[in-house]
Amino acid sequence: MNVDGVHHRTVRLDGACVDLIDQPRLPHAFARVRTKTVLETADAIRTMVVRGAGAIGATGAAGVAQAAVLAGDSQVHAAMHEAARILAATRPTAQNLFYGIDRVLAAAEGLEGRQARDAAVAAAEAVADEDADSCRRIGEHGAALLKDGMRIATHCNAGWLAFVDWGSALAPIYRAHRDGVKLEVWVDETRPRGQGARLTAWELAQEGVPHRVIADGALASRMAAGEVDLLITGADRVAANGDVANKIGTYGAAVCAKHHGIPFYVALPTSTMAPGTPDGASIPIEQRDAEEVQYTWGTDDDGVFRRVRTTYSPVANPAFDVTPASLVTGFITQHGIFGADATGVAASLAR
Ligand code: MRU
Repeated sequence: MNVDGVHHRTVRLDGACVDLIDQPRLPHAFARVRTKTVLETADAIRTMVVRGAGAIGATGAAGVAQAAVLAGDSQVHAAMHEAARILAATRPTAQNLFYGIDRVLAAAEGLEGRQARDAAVAAAEAVADEDADSCRRIGEHGAALLKDGMRIATHCNAGWLAFVDWGSALAPIYRAHRDGVKLEVWVDETRPRGQGARLTAWELAQEGVPHRVIADGALASRMAAGEVDLLITGADRVAANGDVANKIGTYGAAVCAKHHGIPFYVALPTSTMAPGTPDGASIPIEQRDAEEVQYTWGTDDDGVFRRVRTTYSPVANPAFDVTPASLVTGFITQHGIFGADATGVAASLAR
């Protein structure tokens, strides 16, 4: 993805540092940050400096490799396992985090000292490269669904920022747009953290894709008015039976799409599929801090960053919901489009 004409990846292991995009500063400013310790890397995931399934998967992988780089030869395995424990405790829902951590641990298994360290670094780089390549291919498969004049709705941010490059839900849109297909995107604001309004809208603007931001509650009315041709989102975890955990609000959008006969595709690399999680009810749903709902933040008209209170009441803040597989038209993966059921999950993982 290009920002002001310069190509960026969201996550990069650079020696003993992990180099990330500072997402909370968007859309006001674009800046990169570097974490120098595993604790700083874990904190970046926990506080959502880096967020999105693929991006935190690549960051988790990089964090375990970072521990190996920072450790003395005799301490490599102990350091990596301690890092894995800390990183895995940062966020519970997205499957990619555990996928990335486990890939790096497995790569170093049976090796010692420098060899273990080199294998860990190579595995972290492979996780990032594969994420970027899978998303590019998701874009190619998904673009086949997009026709001139379509109006596409999306929720949260499943774009380039949420992965290493390209994104999942936005990759088909980017591919089709670059191929000259005329599209318009409805961007759900995605309260409480506003990933749609803050991140998806910024990404689409960078890429020159026509789009409009709507309040979350406005999507159903756009569907009823016949102004939505397709709904496409990402996923944080897909269970073995095809149930989809994604940003809170996805379930409501999926119910509305079904009611109005609008196709709903979920775009994801197979690293998001969790064959060990039988169904949606088994997916741990992260409950986040009440302050995310009680406050909002941004810059005022003078460019001063402010956090302002929106309510004094107690709140509930579930970060994700589960959409039953029966509401999903299909899964767009790097291997092609599959049915949203146990057979589709198994077939995509077998490729
Ligand atoms: O809590 P977040 O912002 O890390 O949520 C993850 C997501 O980006 C969304 O749920 C997204 O739609 C899934 S795909 C990256």
